[in-house]
Amino acid sequence: MPVITNIDDLKRIYERRVPRMFFDYAESGSWTEQTFRENTSDFEQIRLRQRVAVDMSGRTTASRMIGQDVAMPVALAPVGLTGMQHADGEIKAARAAEDFGVPFTLSTMSINSIEEVAEATGKPFWFQLYTMKDEDYIRRLIQRAKDAKCSALVITLDLQILGQRHKDLKNGLSAPPKLTPKTIANLMTKWAWGLQMLGAKRRNFGNIVGHVQGVSDTSQLGVWTAEQFDPSLDWGKIGKLMEMWGGKVILKGILDAEDARMAAKLGADAIVVSNHGGRQLDGALSSIRMLPQIMDAVGGDVEVHLDSGIRSGQDVLKALALGATGTMIGRAFVYGLGARGQKGVTEALEVIRKELDTTMALCGERSVGALGRHNLLVPQDFGGCWQE
Ligand SMILES: Cc1cc2nc3c(=O)[nH]c(=O)nc-3n(C[C@H](O)[C@H](O)[C@H](O)COP(=O)(O)O)c2cc1C
Repeated sequence: MPVITNIDDLKRIYERRVPRMFFDYAESGSWTEQTFRENTSDFEQIRLRQRVAVDMSGRTTASRMIGQDVAMPVALAPVGLTGMQHADGEIKAARAAEDFGVPFTLSTMSINSIEEVAEATGKPFWFQLYTMKDEDYIRRLIQRAKDAKCSALVITLDLQILGQRHKDLKNGLSAPPKLTPKTIANLMTKWAWGLQMLGAKRRNFGNIVGHVQGVSDTSQLGVWTAEQFDPSLDWGKIGKLMEMWGGKVILKGILDAEDARMAAKLGADAIVVSNHGGRQLDGALSSIRMLPQIMDAVGGDVEVHLDSGIRSGQDVLKALALGATGTMIGRAFVYGLGARGQKGVTEALEVIRKELDTTMALCGERSVGALGRHNLLVPQDFGGCWQE
């Protein structure tokens, strides 16, 4: 077994183990992938301030996100088709998160259903909602999340229309994969993945198939999702969804100070500064670059989380030091899951916690709450000089 020292180690194993179509699905951004690339490279521009002769004993990464105790302020982001990266992937990732003490978010577009994940876990998880035109389906979906005792609804706002990722079109992405000469040739080299997949509880979209009239197979599902995502979603509709849910709400996909103010005004418990991991609007700025502006706009009014581009505990620390209360990781946990199942997700979380803890110590801090701008060296023009 190779020694895992960082998230990239898991990514290399993941790439070898999982069919190309699903690796490409995770490892791509929209169009030119500029935003996807800058999400990670912009983190590198921020440097850390080394401090010495500070008592670093008794450190902790423990914190709180939306009033919930967390072992570190890092939640697993909602990731569609997680159950195609590894058999029963959502169940495995949710269990790893639960054991570790961080929140797990189940995507609307998951393979394992809300009920299957609830049955396999002992603590409430978060549920992510994509808004669809079929209001009756959305009402039932929200009720299913309530019945499963989900502790927060994460409403994703940056995917009313799908950003184009070229590789998905070229690969003919589907769940389960359609058998063409190209996919068969690739699957033959991924036999361990295939064997495990044969024993999976499910190989199609568990929150959708069987719950929407006329959707019984995935070929129809492709048509259905393209037609069903609600392009008319606006703040009024978001308010109604929040009312329908009645519990804690996180609005995900905010990348603009004005939108952040709207979300705070609506009474969200938290926002996630996010560009969907560079998968939607190519050419948008990275999340970490937008964070300071958004903190200035709403920092005192609503809890701010950040995702997109986090690949290490140092990235987490930079987001927290710029004011975020919490973070989410998408690909970083998917690499672990695809590489080694539940154990791999735990390894990804361990890597990140260790990096966060060691960096905190070398920056002279003992708790995540104490982190701030004083720990960072931020280039003067980091926010950029952009004209509207
Ligand atoms: C393969 C993949 C699938 C995703 N599916 C969803 C989804 O179903 N719902 C959602 O709100 N966000 C989805 N996202 C976005 C993530 O929740 C998160 O914003 C993003 O992964 C953060 O960037 P990172 O991967 O660089 O950490 C997806 C991201 C990836 C990589």
